[in-house]
Amino acid sequence: MRCGCARYALPAVSETPRQELERSLLEHRALFQARFGGGEVPRMWFSPGRVNLMGAHLDYNGGPVMPTAIDRGTFFALRPRADGRIRLASTLEPGELEFETEALPSSPARRWSDYPVGVLREMQVRAREHGRRIGGFELLFGGNLPVGAGLSSSASICVGTALALSQTWGLDLPRLELVRAALAAERGFVGVQCGIMDPYAVGLARAGSLLWLDCKDASSAWMPLDARHYSIAVADTLVRRELAQGAFNERVRQCERALAALAPHQPGATCLRDVRPETLDSRRAGLDPLLARRAEHVVREVARTFAARAALLRGDLAGFGAEMTRAHASLRDLFEVSVPELDALVDAAGACEGVLGARLTGAGFGGCVVVLLRRGAETELRAGLEREFRARFGRSPVVEFFGGDEGPREILL
Ligand code: GLA
Repeated sequence: MRCGCARYALPAVSETPRQELERSLLEHRALFQARFGGGEVPRMWFSPGRVNLMGAHLDYNGGPVMPTAIDRGTFFALRPRADGRIRLASTLEPGELEFETEALPSSPARRWSDYPVGVLREMQVRAREHGRRIGGFELLFGGNLPVGAGLSSSASICVGTALALSQTWGLDLPRLELVRAALAAERGFVGVQCGIMDPYAVGLARAGSLLWLDCKDASSAWMPLDARHYSIAVADTLVRRELAQGAFNERVRQCERALAALAPHQPGATCLRDVRPETLDSRRAGLDPLLARRAEHVVREVARTFAARAALLRGDLAGFGAEMTRAHASLRDLFEVSVPELDALVDAAGACEGVLGARLTGAGFGGCVVVLLRRGAETELRAGLEREFRARFGRSPVVEFFGGDEGPREILL
């Protein structure tokens, strides 16, 4: 089962990921024509989601992260219109939004369409800088990424929308500029004070690699992860907390307060990532215990993420996985963003042969666990997770094995 994407048929056992994507996009094109009418066929794009393996809650603290794009994401079907009108719809949400090119919505409506509208506003600015203008169009969104699971459906929509608009109106902006447009849309128009990880992970994706992204200066590098020997599983608890956004914002504020308390004792510190473990240790007594726990997670997660990178570089995937599992304990005990369902999946994964590491991914408060395992251990992992979870919660998690992805692109059918 995949949440929120019941409109697309499930993959046939014999299908390759490429065949599955093309078939889903053909279905999506038919849904576009059913909604907007026949005539010229729309152009199609795909934009992946992402899963983060190391560096939890570090992006907004200026630390390093190690995400990778996955072969599930957002579908786009776009056809220009001559009359200057813009129509946006989704196969996953009811309703449709329609407005004039010259009268873009100026404030968010607190709906999914805020993401593409925010991107459209950003892209209009960039188009003008190129002496161009984005004209009318109809655009249908869809996809096979579970929404609200922590796999970054919002960055997938935003970067993909930026690419589709850029290519349709001949702006041909570099990927980094699409990432910036996506980030500006989420922060400026949608109003989410998100870190930089998600749009970078989607926009700079390269198949077969983790992205090393240093969120202090946005420098990045690709680090190969050999898919012939290792596999990535994502197990969805299907727990969705309505208050998750509020709890996320609260963590951001707590980290800001911890930085304000510690920065005077750490020369040159501009973000919590800059605080050394020994500075935290020497100042702990004077710090609010809750802020000390939050800071401890961040400071030690920075060290763990560097250790994980070193392990990956020397081919020590067991060492990498051990840092993932330590990260989960810290998210549970110090950052306090786990829930019993996530803890149960991490414990169950740890008991399976061939598993190298497991931890919650995304913001937490529900959503998914990511597991790094040796190839060949998939069947046993799925059985183990389902058995343990069912025994405890009386239902199954959704366990999937995602391939990597090369990033947002037009798909010619
Ligand atoms: C959410 C945010 C990301 C990041 C993670 C936690 O997924 O969108 O920017 O902060 O939480 O690592």
